[in-house]
Amino acid sequence: MSTARPTAREIAEVDLFSPEPYRQGFPHEAFTRLRRSAPVSWLDVPDDFQGEHDPGFWLLTRHADVQAANRDTELFSALDGPQLSLRPEMAGNMLVSMDGRAHLRLRKLISSGFTPRMVSRLEQKARGWAISILDAALARGQCDFVQDVAYQLPMHMIADIMGIPIEDRARVFDVTLEFLQAGDPDSPATPEAHLASQVKMFQYAQELGRRKRERPEEDVWTILATAEVEGDDGERTKLSEIELDFFFLVLTIAGSETTRNAISAGLLALLDSPEQLEALRRRPDSLPVAGEEILRWTTPVSYFARRATGDTEIRGVPIAKGDRVTLWYPSANRDEDVFDEPFRFDVTRKPNPHVAFGGGGPHFCLGANLARFEIRVLFEELLARTREIEPLAPPTYGPLGIYNPVLLAVKELPVRLA
Ligand code: HEM
Repeated sequence: MSTARPTAREIAEVDLFSPEPYRQGFPHEAFTRLRRSAPVSWLDVPDDFQGEHDPGFWLLTRHADVQAANRDTELFSALDGPQLSLRPEMAGNMLVSMDGRAHLRLRKLISSGFTPRMVSRLEQKARGWAISILDAALARGQCDFVQDVAYQLPMHMIADIMGIPIEDRARVFDVTLEFLQAGDPDSPATPEAHLASQVKMFQYAQELGRRKRERPEEDVWTILATAEVEGDDGERTKLSEIELDFFFLVLTIAGSETTRNAISAGLLALLDSPEQLEALRRRPDSLPVAGEEILRWTTPVSYFARRATGDTEIRGVPIAKGDRVTLWYPSANRDEDVFDEPFRFDVTRKPNPHVAFGGGGPHFCLGANLARFEIRVLFEELLARTREIEPLAPPTYGPLGIYNPVLLAVKELPVRLA
């Protein structure tokens, strides 16, 4: 089936299914080879790949191709979700696995949670959280920057937005992490543990919905738990239990894991370029531009998957109707055709047309602005409050590799803050 296709396995020179190439972060070398020699290539999925899956998939590694596929949602359907393993129960039930009008309706609904009043309060909130989180870390002197700082701000922000009470947060987000890690075939957790953590999240989502219906508040979960959506037949219905469950999953994961990784990997990049860190200390007003480079450099989402709805061709490579196609954002963000010296971290880079939030189109990241100001506020307050940030040990990475597109993350980054 795949004989005439450019095959990623040979060109990448590494086994992208093994955890090995991801031990030190994203395997940029392999993807640079792919961009150069086979920007559109095919990868067979090994037989022992967990769960239901396609026999193989295409990898798009160039910026222009990622952008075009992302924007053409008629030809590249999101229905089967962003991951490689197929979860039929998610298709059509989750914002990230919906197409067309159904997707637009749900997206509009959640956007209504981000009212101007709410958004104007968010930045203030982010600063308040950033200050208290950093003060606690500074009081200790040494900390794990990932757990004690980078994890805390996005977690509290998404919890504030959703209306998850403070006393529930540790429990809810511990389960979120447990859920993600248990999905890793190399983790010691069993598939039963994975399912059990998903059940716990769903139970909490329902419990929170009941509380919001009894006592509505100004938050996104009140909106989602009480809203009615108009179907194609004009009938208005409430979101089903499963739609609410998956919404909860998407928001808790998308709202916390990605920004956490941008912040921790962003600090690592700055520590590797002390002169750029010092320049930012002197000119904190240049942080919005620096934030974009942090996003390009760290690109926390590895890929999102789509499915071709018709026969097509990209760079002369035929793609058949029904083929699975993956859009590799970290690779697109190192594309030599778009970025001058793409492997140079440059906090003054401008313009910076990165695709860290997706390549555009109807699924473009809903939290992009939120993530942007979380990153800016956190670094503003960090640089204003410290004279010195000293790494105490090399970082460690989560070994999830290709299995989970949002969890190739810095796991630990011990630092001393002075
Ligand atoms: C640095 C942080 C973040 C990065 C790198 C990121 C990246 C992405 C990417 C690549 C997509 C897929 C876009 C596409 O399919 O075209 C996405 C979608 C999404 N993101 Fe983010 N994201 C971040 C933060 C957030 C935050 C803080 C939220 C919280 C509200 C969020 C909520 C979402 C949602 C709900 C979607 C699905 C949108 C849809 O399918 O219509 N993200 N994000």
